[in-house]
Formats: sequence, C-alpha cells, structure tokens
Amino acid sequence: MPKEFEFLNPEQVNFFLDNGYIVIKNAFTKEKAAEWTRDVWVRLGMDPNDKSTWNSERIHMPWFRRETVATFAPNAWAAIKDLLGGEERINEDASQWGDSFIVNLGTEHWEKTEPLPPQDLDNWHVDGDFFVHYLDSPEQALLVIPIYSDIEPMGGGTMICPEGIEHIAKYLAAHPEGVLPTGLSFTPSTSTYEKHEDHPDYWSHLKEIKKYKQFVEMTGEVGDVVLMHPLMLHSASKNHLRIPRIITNPPVSLKEPFNLNREDPSQYSLVERKTLKALGVERFPFNITTERRRIVPARVLRQQKMMEEEKKRLAALKEKEMPMNNTVLVK
Ligand SMILES: [Fe+2]
Repeated sequence: MPKEFEFLNPEQVNFFLDNGYIVIKNAFTKEKAAEWTRDVWVRLGMDPNDKSTWNSERIHMPWFRRETVATFAPNAWAAIKDLLGGEERINEDASQWGDSFIVNLGTEHWEKTEPLPPQDLDNWHVDGDFFVHYLDSPEQALLVIPIYSDIEPMGGGTMICPEGIEHIAKYLAAHPEGVLPTGLSFTPSTSTYEKHEDHPDYWSHLKEIKKYKQFVEMTGEVGDVVLMHPLMLHSASKNHLRIPRIITNPPVSLKEPFNLNREDPSQYSLVERKTLKALGVERFPFNITTERRRIVPARVLRQQKMMEEEKKRLAALKEKEMPMNNTVLVK
C-alpha cells in the first residue's frame, strides 16, 4: 500500500519534490516563541536598544530548555513524519527542539551596503558538521528551521539553493567511501593529502555555488517552520535591516540510513524520492565502503564555554528579580 500522508496535501508534496523544501505556516504559537525568547538578550549579554553592544554578527547559542516537537509544533512534527516516511523510522532521541537560537544581528557595514548576489555570500554549506557524510546518511535527515522572529527580505534570512540538491546528491553518489565536512567543503574520507584541497575530488561549496542560479531567501513569520531536504545547500545572509533575526536549526535523525533501493517503491519516503529524482533514477543501490562515524566539531567546545557564561548572566538576573532572597551584608 502506498505511504499515506497525515498532514501534507498533494500541492505540498509536489512542491517538496520540485524544490526540496516546504514552509509550514503557524507551526508553533507566538506565545510559545515569546516565552522561549524572553531571556535572549540577557543570555547574549547585549542590550536590544543599543547596537554598540551587538558585538557579533551571528551567534549560535547553546540550549537550556527542550521540548518534543510533537507538543511544541504538532503540524511541523506531522509534516516531518510525512517527509521521512513515518514516525517508526525517526530516532526518538533526536525529535526534540531547544532554545539554541541562531541570532543574526548584522553589522554596521551591511546596514549601509546593498545586498550581495547570493553566489557571493561566504557561508555556503550542507548541514552536519558532526558525521562523515554518505548519500544515505541518517544523522541529519532534514534541515529544519523554526522561525522565532519575523524575517523580512534583506533581514538576514537563510539563503538556500534548491538546484544544489542535484549536484550534492551526484557528488555523494560517487563517493561510497564517505566525505568529511571540512569547513565549507567536502573531502573524501579516505584522503591522505595533507591539504584537503589538494585531493582531486575535493568539493568547495563556495566554488560550486558560483555555477548555480536558483536561490530563495527564507523570509517568514514567528511560528513558521521551514523543512528542507538534508542535501540543501544554504548560507547565512547579511542582515541589512538589523532587525534581530532569530531561528534555530534542530536536527532530526533516522534510526536507519535512507534506503534508495526499496523492493516496494511505494515505501520510499519523500526525502528518498527527492534524492532519487535529483539523481535522475528510479532506484539507486548504494553500499558504503567505510564505517559510519561521528566527529566532534569545534563548535561543540565553543558552545560549552558560551553556556557557562550565559548561566552566570542568568543567575545574576535571577538574583536581581528576587531581592528578598539576597543576603544583605551590612558593614
Ligand atoms: Fe547550516
């Protein structure tokens, strides 16, 4: 029996198969978003009304609270299940969202500067800095962007390149040995070159993106959730408006790798169907030739340090809010 969809309508299904992403409007409430972002400025150690305190263009914050997607954003969860072929295929441990905000504040320079052509943005990548990538990798099965602040054009929304899925899929299909995420690039995992870029099959996202023409800027409103194919090329963009842009980027993972060679084709998930479409085939037997493994990215160590600093500032705020609990020292 063909897979039935719990939430997605035929237009959304076709849009995903054509473009590799869909937007779920009002997937979580504005109240919930407000509750989660309430302390964001304290956590950042910045003043929302004083741009001179905005000392970083983009900040990837650690998380303090988490909730299951099913209760936080039920429609997004239903759509995620539809895209991945059912709840039974999803790794439960990775189906929570947190307040690990990615804040794009922009800079004074970009406030006064015209937008760059998308190809010239400097952050193009495919998500997943924590594992060796294969065409069927289960670790990051979708690229998910819940939106916590209204995002207007030129307001620092993520730039995506839907046509890139085809090129990334073909590159990964040619590399059953897996590729390492090496910054804004991929390097075959068996490379013995001292410099990654010396490998003949080194893939630079920044170089390849210059050849592509299809770009979409992810604008939206608080409560919207963008769900994308895991091989979607994307880049942070410049926030020319300097209205703080707040999103998160929670991973969702599968229990088993994607299967691009199912006996019963009706059992392909929508992500698998999109991958096969990108490759231009009906099925694609794919067997990896090295062991799947995880990598600890430098980002994790940076965020641990940031979390300690945020904790201190939140503790100071709590003390201020509850002066009765303070011990008053009298000299
Ligand atoms: Fe990313």
